[in-house]
Amino acid sequence: MNKIKIIKNTEKYVKNKMLGDSAGHDWWHVYRVWKVAVHIGKQEKANMFVVELGALLHDIADFKFNNGDETAGSRVSREWLEEQKVDEAIIKHVCDIVENVSFKGAKVKSKMKTTEGMVVQDADRLDAIGAIGIARTFAYGGAKELEMYNPEIRAVRHKSFEEYKNTRGTSINHFYEKLLLLKDLIIMVGKSWTRNLVQ
Ligand code: ADP
Ligand code: NI
Repeated sequence: MNKIKIIKNTEKYVKNKMLGDSAGHDWWHVYRVWKVAVHIGKQEKANMFVVELGALLHDIADFKFNNGDETAGSRVSREWLEEQKVDEAIIKHVCDIVENVSFKGAKVKSKMKTTEGMVVQDADRLDAIGAIGIARTFAYGGAKELEMYNPEIRAVRHKSFEEYKNTRGTSINHFYEKLLLLKDLIIMVGKSWTRNLVQ
């Protein structure tokens, strides 16, 4: 297994599939998540092969663009990684990351269990906040023809993924339903830094 070659091939594959998307899930989102994940992953001494593959494939077939099918991403990832002759244990780990990376509702706990998964998830969440996060939200809202603002539609703290994925709320509500909650969900960023401080 030539890891460098596999990462290069995966970069090309994902870039080719996602370049040009205008709904906030484009190649350059993936590129930023990849680079930030590498930065965090090194500090956390994570398995970097898993981190890089997880970051590159994390939005390859997002449920929001696949009729709510939350297994589409891991299925496409598995097919690709098998083709690349990646070891089964690594495939399982990467597919677990792809399946669990997404936010699934304010009151739904993430099932991400591994350091590598949390690293990718944090990198993805960092790209969902700040100026880029705001821009992506309105790009997504436009692509999905969501109303930008409507004071008659209240923001909801979704209790289940079913509820969250079927919502047609406004883009402004998305800030209250997800984006403003993310800062308290980011786990790994600063962990090593704090650990160094304590020691
Ligand atoms: P994550 O992988 O962090 O869970 P998502 O793939 O769910 O992120 O969403 C990525 C971005 O797409 C969000 O951060 C937001 O900018 C935009 N987005 C997703 N759902 C909505 C929505 N219902 N309304 C507006 N923007 C949305
Ligand atoms: Ni993403």
